Order: sequence, then structure tokens, then C-alpha cells
Amino acid sequence: MNILVTGCAGFIGNKVSEILLNDGNQIFGIDNLNSSYDISLKKYRLNNLNLNSNFNFFELDISNYKSIEKNIFNPSKNIRFDIIINLAARAGVRQSVENPWDYYESNTIGTLNLLELCKKWNIPKFILASTSSLYGLNKNMPFLEEINTDQVLSPYAASKKACEVLAHTYHYLHKIDISVLRFFTVYGPAGRPDMSIFKFIKSIDEAKPITIFGDGTQSRDFTYVDDIAAGVISSIRATGYQIINLGNDKPIILSNIVELIENYLNKKAIINYTPAHAADVKDTWANIEKAKNLLQWGPTISIEEGIKRTVNWYLENKTWLSKIK
Ligand SMILES: NC(=O)c1ccc[n+]([C@@H]2O[C@H](COP(=O)([O-])OP(=O)(O)OC[C@H]3O[C@@H](n4cnc5c(N)ncnc54)[C@H](O)[C@@H]3O)[C@@H](O)[C@H]2O)c1
Repeated sequence: MNILVTGCAGFIGNKVSEILLNDGNQIFGIDNLNSSYDISLKKYRLNNLNLNSNFNFFELDISNYKSIEKNIFNPSKNIRFDIIINLAARAGVRQSVENPWDYYESNTIGTLNLLELCKKWNIPKFILASTSSLYGLNKNMPFLEEINTDQVLSPYAASKKACEVLAHTYHYLHKIDISVLRFFTVYGPAGRPDMSIFKFIKSIDEAKPITIFGDGTQSRDFTYVDDIAAGVISSIRATGYQIINLGNDKPIILSNIVELIENYLNKKAIINYTPAHAADVKDTWANIEKAKNLLQWGPTISIEEGIKRTVNWYLENKTWLSKIK
């Protein structure tokens, strides 16, 4: 298949592209290589994809419709795409409070542009990365896809809610098959350096203090990146408009994550506690019955195994990672 993957230099987009390339697909990857975090990590991921001759990279911004159409959908290029997988986004809850505009540009306008391209160029399938942040302060856990997601807590979650709703209109009006995947806190090797697990591993190893927002009892349904990527790929065959949770179905509190990292590094954390951030949700836990039934998907990597692999990757790459900000 010819597949357009946006955010291919990102944490999840990179893993999805890698697996699809290994399966023999032709990947057209877009990323604007923005400075949301240290670019050397994005280049590291991209270098791995560039080793495969079926990978074609375009440094473009999905919020710029004209540049995407000119560079990729130009009729002279004569490429018929089977799917767009939209993993490009400004991610991160707290940063979205500081700069909501970037989030709406990349996430919402970006998604709108890609949906328009599906419509115009007859691309039958669109996959959208959404988030567990949509469940906000809901207390009915594990979260079912059907529960109300109108009370979101951050501009990031609001931008994703807008994407979900936009995607529905394109399914309704233009019969595009759309899978909206709500990811639950993704972690793993080459993860995002602005996320807790990466920050904790690096700081604990370097004997620097870590910051915990709140008292450490907040829980997340941490899900290993390979499992998330497998879920994205299995959603290719889903038809209609489907909202599907992809989570580990085993929430774990943040303090236990710190303990696991301490054990694998054989070092003690120095912990600074600061008040919880208002935009952070307290707990997340996915109900994954729909993913099991519709996609025959389920998580396969335990948190112990996943953290061990992530720590090992960090130790193997420690020299250049020490320079990551
Ligand atoms: N990592 C998680 O825990 C998590 C949880 C829920 C949802 N998600 C969603 O999954 C997707 C991937 O997240 P990730 O963790 O891999 O983040 P990431 O930041 O590592 O990857 C996103 C990539 O998109 C690129 N990008 C951003 N805006 C762009 C634009 N306008 N044009 C082109 N490229 C752009 C970035 O440069 C980056 O490489 C995002 O949509 C995110 O919101 C992630």
C-alpha cells in the first residue's frame, strides 16, 4: 500500500512507519521537525527510517494545505494513496496552556487539511491519533468510548476533540472510513523527552532531582509504544467511523513507575513534589473491549518489561542522550 504517515519523526509515527515499512509498504512521511523538544531525537528516529528505500521523507507542515498538495499530491507525481495516518500534532497537556495557538494550528487545522485531501484525492481511509485526555475528570473508569468528553481540561484536549468532530463530518459527508484512536500515555525506547518516563530515567541516572506534580498517587494507563503501533496498524481494516481506546488496561501510579526505574538503574530518585497542575487529569484507565472485538488487538508488554526495555535503550544511547535538553 501507499501510506501517508504524518509525524513520522515523532515517537509513535516513527514506530508505526518502521513496522509498515518492514511489511513492504511504501511510506510517504511528513514531519515539520519543529522544536517542541530536542530535534536530535527526531533526527535519530528519521535516520533509522531513511535506511529503507521504500521510505520517502517530506519536511512539510500539515497546517499548510497548499505546500502539502503541491509537494505530494501533485498529479505529475501520480501517487494513489490508500490511507492517511495522522500522527503529527503538538502533544503535551501543560505546554498547551502556555501556547494554545500552535496546538490549534497543527492539530486542528492540520487535521482539517488532511481530511480535505482525503476528500479531494479520493483517499478511502483516515486514521487519527486522539487522546485519553478527552476523558477529563470523568470518574467512571475504565473509560468507555461512549462516555461524554465535553468537559476537557486543556487546549490540547480541546484541539483533539475538535479533530474527532471534524473527522465525523468527513465520514458522514464523504463516506471516508475513519478510525479515531484514543491513546493512553505511551512510553518506550526513543520516547518523548518531555514525558515523565524519559525525564525520570535520565534525571535519576544523572543524580538530578525529578519533579512530581501532586503526591505521586495519580495513575496512568501506561501503554508500550509497540503495542500502540500494532493497534494503529490493525485499525487500517476497520470501516465506518470508529472511536477506539488503545490502552494497557492496567493503570499504575506514578510513584510505582519511579520505583521500577530505580530498580532497573539501581539508583535512588531525588524527588521534588509540586502542586498538581490544573490541566492534568488525575487518573486514566482504558476500557479496551472495543479494540479487542473490532481489531482483535490487546496489549502484550507488561509495564515491568516495557520499563526495562526503555531503561536499556537509554543506557545503550546514554552518551548522546546526555546532551538532550
Ligand atoms: N505519546 C503519548 O502518550 C500520546 C498520548 C495520546 C495521544 N498522543 C498523540 O499521538 C500522536 C503522536 O504523539 P507522539 O508522542 O509521537 O508525539 P511527537 O511529538 O513525538 O510526534 C509528533 C510529530 O509530529 C510533528 N509535527 C507536529 N506538528 C506538525 C505539523 N504541523 N506538521 C508536520 N509535522 C508536525 C513533530 O515534529 C513530531 O515529530 C499525537 O497526535 C499525539 O497527540 C500521544
